[in-house]
Amino acid sequence: MKQELVLVLNFGGESSQKIARKIRDLKVYSEILPYNVSIERIKNLKPKGIVLTGIQDLKDSSENKYIRQINGLNIPTKVINNVDEEEIKSFIFSQCGCEGSWNMASFIESSIENIRQRVGNKKVLCALSGGVDSSVAAVLIHKAIGDQLVCIFVDHGLMRKNEGDEVERVFKEQFHLNLIRVNAQDRFLNRLKGVSEPETKRKIIGEEFIRVFEEEAKKIGKVDFLVQGTIYPDVIESGGDEAHLVKSHHNVGGLPEDIEFDEIIEPLRDLFKDEVRKVGEELGIPRHMVWRQPFPGPGLAIRVIGDVTREKLDILREADAIFREEIALAGLDKEIWQYFAVLTDMKSVGVTHGKRTYDYTIALRGVTSIDGMTANWARIPHEVLDKVSRRITAEVPHVNRVVYDITSKPPATIEWE
Ligand code: XMP
Repeated sequence: MKQELVLVLNFGGESSQKIARKIRDLKVYSEILPYNVSIERIKNLKPKGIVLTGIQDLKDSSENKYIRQINGLNIPTKVINNVDEEEIKSFIFSQCGCEGSWNMASFIESSIENIRQRVGNKKVLCALSGGVDSSVAAVLIHKAIGDQLVCIFVDHGLMRKNEGDEVERVFKEQFHLNLIRVNAQDRFLNRLKGVSEPETKRKIIGEEFIRVFEEEAKKIGKVDFLVQGTIYPDVIESGGDEAHLVKSHHNVGGLPEDIEFDEIIEPLRDLFKDEVRKVGEELGIPRHMVWRQPFPGPGLAIRVIGDVTREKLDILREADAIFREEIALAGLDKEIWQYFAVLTDMKSVGVTHGKRTYDYTIALRGVTSIDGMTANWARIPHEVLDKVSRRITAEVPHVNRVVYDITSKPPATIEWE
């Protein structure tokens, strides 16, 4: 995979990711490194070309000295500050002589080869959540080493309708993964009993997840590698440092401490998110799993406002499933970044078949966003909202009112808790 590499050396500014992505779109593998990376390291990577980007002030003598050293490597080098497709094409194909053979199939092929070499006959352990990154990582590693990979799927009972069963079905029956499903719903519900503060919920779920995972892992005994779903943006954020990278924002709260393992394996650390999804498709993981909307690690627990009970989770799951079904039917699922139902802790008066009711209010949330940092409330057509409201109040017991959240982020957050 890395035989044909074009390096993007970032001297500052915002363009480096866009340039690297454009080069990858042109089927040439590209990596971003900060400009102070050692000349020795650049040499070892044997790039076919080097792009210098974000150079502001060539009066800067240390930068000048560094650039002279790079020029001394006799590798085609060019300053590119903006994403100009023709300029990039001409550089990588005409000047560097790249062929453009990098794609997801070749990534998979070389990854499998690398994983086999690195793992040998040792044992690998993976926490499979059903999310995009852990799913793709698990299937890829399984392709390389089969049953030397053991996956633990902690079902905390906070997933959406049918999700837990689907994870088990897809990865066990379709991919024949060595998958252990831990049905820990009761444990999580017990620990969450009476807890209504959002950050406390998150903390409890994170801790309990690690505890269940550790208990299960101990039964397996010593493992050699632990899988991490690190992706390329995490690597870039850490300055492209080769040093051991531990993802602090791991979905469900940190790495286990009590599991014995020697090394971390990160099969997706070279890929951007949409490339991870493409690899997932190429591997045959169902499209709706690979392209699914972001889903928080603490799951529905932070979408039931206030304390969490089994009854409330069931109500929310049904309402949420109806909303998602109608959004998909209306063909809006690709446009909207996240769309979900929230079970508010408010009850209000209604009337059904001439009888007074006093029941829950469901809030629907739909937002458009690029990265989740800011978001706009989605302009979902009134007819779609109308149908969802009618269906939820008719089909889901204990809900007599549906509202739509018209707040953007900021000032609101995407999740309600
Ligand atoms: P907020 O609510 O902060 O959400 O606007 C931004 C994005 O992060 C997701 N989110 C979480 N993801 N664990 C996660 O893995 C969490 O505790 C968590 N809280 C929010 C949210 O769904 C949105 O995509």
